[in-house]
Amino acid sequence: MPEASAWNAARAREIIAEHALLEGPMLPILHALQEEFGHVSADAVPLVADALNLSRAEVHGVVSFYHDFRAHPCGSHVLKLCRGEACQSMGSEALAESALAKLGVGWHGTTRDGELTVEPVYCLGLCATSPSALLDGEPIGRLDEAKLAEAIEEVRGR
Ligand code: FES
Repeated sequence: MPEASAWNAARAREIIAEHALLEGPMLPILHALQEEFGHVSADAVPLVADALNLSRAEVHGVVSFYHDFRAHPCGSHVLKLCRGEACQSMGSEALAESALAKLGVGWHGTTRDGELTVEPVYCLGLCATSPSALLDGEPIGRLDEAKLAEAIEEVRGR
């Protein structure tokens, strides 16, 4: 994963200004902020609200509505476990529950060592190999507990 920059209000203002004149600027701004800083900080919300002449609650509502936006920095690695229908029918929920328990995190949580963040997704287009996941953007299919544990160990050892 590309390294995220530390939060910097001046840089955030630049990013916001670069996108503020687009039609429907909110989502492009939030995506650009997340790309730069790895998450959409609570400190960014008032800056976006001021620039777009919206309330903080409106901006916060958008950040929390879309699963893609993170309110906190994520780990060095990101595991996206599919919770879509096809994957559920192949046991993804039990697999996810077990993985979350072993890692000691909930959905959107990051392990204590800051190494791994686990996020839900709702269909990766990999239904034929369900249950499926993405680990640092790499697809993994036909998951079972052993295969998932092995993939996690491998990526954490990098
Ligand atoms: S439902 Fe999981 S990849 Fe489609």
